[in-house]
Amino acid sequence: MKRGGSDEQKRAAGESAVDAVSNGMVVGLGTGSTTAYAIRKLGRLIDDGMDIEGIPTSYQSRQLAREVGIPLTSLEDATPDLAIDGADQVADGTLIKGGGAAHTREKLVDAAADRLLVVVDPTKEADALDHPVAVEVLPDARRTVAEAVTDLGGDPQLRAAERKDGPVVTDNGNLVLDCDFGTIEDPAALARELSMVPGVLEHGLFVGLADEIHCGTDDGVRVKEL
Ligand code: A5P
Repeated sequence: MKRGGSDEQKRAAGESAVDAVSNGMVVGLGTGSTTAYAIRKLGRLIDDGMDIEGIPTSYQSRQLAREVGIPLTSLEDATPDLAIDGADQVADGTLIKGGGAAHTREKLVDAAADRLLVVVDPTKEADALDHPVAVEVLPDARRTVAEAVTDLGGDPQLRAAERKDGPVVTDNGNLVLDCDFGTIEDPAALARELSMVPGVLEHGLFVGLADEIHCGTDDGVRVKEL
């Protein structure tokens, strides 16, 4: 799915993060159009003789990794040395993710990794988070979670599929509520509240997980260490 800045900005960011990958590493493979550039570059490094394994975070990243020849493993068998992942919005090192409905597995892999490198373009950077927060919910919990989100001050909208009637169904068989909270003053507090709602599988607020932000611009890549 295409979102955000230019393809060149995304390519620059994705490929910049791959510079941190070295021989023998296990790499978490995030989802989305920016991470796709990182996955393709990892494939080229493997063609050149590098020995790495990947842990995918979605159907999309698994298929792309297979296509470019990255051997795959899982969290059952390995811990990622680093993960490379995109974001829908970044402010103060906190991320909003889930634009591709993959945030549940992304959070699992990103949190397990020793380091998380986030790859974005300038359209994703903000002073404060105000992008709707994707919340993956069990299908039976759609109404009760939506009510809980409303009680927390959010406006939940069931994500509709494109080119399919009805809602988006995640890789895990669940639904997504896009929850607009306006400007999020205290992301850590909201993250905790959302995690406590029964029926919520995972939400797209990634607090305290990112180690570096690689932002691809028209004048090169800005790397921010956190
Ligand atoms: C997937 O659910 C998301 O978390 C993506 O990582 C995020 O939306 C970034 O995607 P793009 O790089 O395509 O903007």
